[in-house]
Amino acid sequence: MTSLEQHLLWIDGHMTPLSEAFYGGLFRTHPHIKSLFGVASRAARKQMLRQILSSVLQLDEPWVRDELADTGRRHRADLEIPVEMYAMVQQALLAALEEVSGERWTPELATAWNEKLDAVTAATLENA
Ligand code: HEM
Repeated sequence: MTSLEQHLLWIDGHMTPLSEAFYGGLFRTHPHIKSLFGVASRAARKQMLRQILSSVLQLDEPWVRDELADTGRRHRADLEIPVEMYAMVQQALLAALEEVSGERWTPELATAWNEKLDAVTAATLENA
């Protein structure tokens, strides 16, 4: 098992603090993004974080890539999310992972996560 897989398993038991750190940090750094999320978007927020994390280890699966591309299409068509915002979300998630992980965080994990999140973003933006 790679250390990224182990870390992801650990994260799975810490989804509430991760979600708070991720969306809290994202909205603090980019207040304009907060208004894109509806007031009753708790379920959607959870779904979004889940899809990003659950895709990380399965990016070779065609159905996972198809689902990400579908999400990307909906984000463009229904939410008009500009491409530039993907880097903001990725940065906020990386910072939240680091914050929640405390002493578990290593430079190797940071590199591995960054590469995986790049790949998730690329698959989501496939037809952009
Ligand atoms: C990294 C790739 C991303 C993935 C996999 C992803 C995934 C999701 C999922 C699964 C949902 C639930 C609704 C649906 O399925 O359409 C969602 C909702 C949403 N996402 Fe994303 N997302 C991504 C990036 C982004 C970015 C960059 C933004 C820009 C701010 C964003 C903003 C939103 C908003 C505003 C909602 C709707 C919340 C509501 O219903 O109020 N997402 N996302």
